[in-house]
Amino acid sequence: MIRARPHVAAMDAYALPDVSAPAGKRLISLALNESALPPSPNAIAAGSKALASGQLYAAEGWSDLRDAIAEVHDLNREDILCSGGSMALIETTMRCFAGPGDRVLASQYSYAFLRVAALAAGAEYAAAPEVDFTVSIDALLAAVQPATRIVCLVNPGNPTGTRIPYSEIVRLRDSLDDDVLLLIDEAYGEFTDQPAERTFELTERGNTVVLRTFSKVYALAGMRVGWGIYPAALRREMLKLLGGNTVSVAAEAAAAAAMRDQAYMRGVCNETSRRRQRFVAQLRDLGFDVPESHTNFALIRFASAEAAGRADRMLRAEGYVLRGMGLYALPDCLRATIGDAKDMDAVAGLLGDWLKEGNNT
Ligand SMILES: Cc1ncc(COP(=O)(O)O)c(C=O)c1O
Repeated sequence: MIRARPHVAAMDAYALPDVSAPAGKRLISLALNESALPPSPNAIAAGSKALASGQLYAAEGWSDLRDAIAEVHDLNREDILCSGGSMALIETTMRCFAGPGDRVLASQYSYAFLRVAALAAGAEYAAAPEVDFTVSIDALLAAVQPATRIVCLVNPGNPTGTRIPYSEIVRLRDSLDDDVLLLIDEAYGEFTDQPAERTFELTERGNTVVLRTFSKVYALAGMRVGWGIYPAALRREMLKLLGGNTVSVAAEAAAAAAMRDQAYMRGVCNETSRRRQRFVAQLRDLGFDVPESHTNFALIRFASAEAAGRADRMLRAEGYVLRGMGLYALPDCLRATIGDAKDMDAVAGLLGDWLKEGNNT
């Protein structure tokens, strides 16, 4: 009998929500934080064109994509690594810099895949408490132990949507020992109104990496492209595991064109924020507790886990799938991705009717 290695056998499967529609029914997924709007037309054209030379391997070193990212963000192209989604960069970073006997630390409600990647690397995973659904740097620092090798910060957070200011990130970095890697996951960074470039500068210290993705505001989740800024010494190690050829030709061309179309990206960002603000205001008017989100989703808190489960079933019966939060130990919450404006109004309306029937207990 073939057995997985003990640390893998001990892990739970990474659970994704079931968004498949029953036969004959239309089901709208608001569960995966995908973009409500399609990719830039330039990205669609470039990706389609590149497919015509799909018999060739992509150029080593993500050459054009790195150029596009470096131009737009005023970075050195050499500092950039790309891969099949930022999940792949998270996974490789963990494998590269943590292993058996090491600890990976994150905040209480951090993106669930961080834990999976840490455990898959054979490391232990620990979480520091949050305050009001927001990362607490004091709590993170208090949880650091001698075995802590990586501290992860997701900003803005998933599933909370909240963010911490740059000054707090600097305080975290300043307070950590130099041999502790700080991994800053900015999958939703473009949605924030604080100029993110300043976190990029932290990578110059040699012990910090910043990750971004094309899956959210660039609307290319299905293309699977993530990128990160890695200091030279870390990059050398990463490349041993990553290789330089981890993004398909079509995905690379689409992502490079999307990056060069900043006006379109800003438009997606503004429209998503507008819809989110309207949706959150509607829910708060109904009396729901919704943390301030700086992303393309909102976390909705119900009176109990049972109420959240009832609301989830009601919405599914009406054709909408939200994300249950059991995985994040928030069974009294549902997370709603911001989708079409009319769907967001419909979900708010359905929850309003549901409340009037006295269901939120
Ligand atoms: C915080 C965070 N990081 C990383 C990812 C992974 O994104 P990608 O599609 O680039 O692998 C997600 C996806 O939802 C996310 O929410």
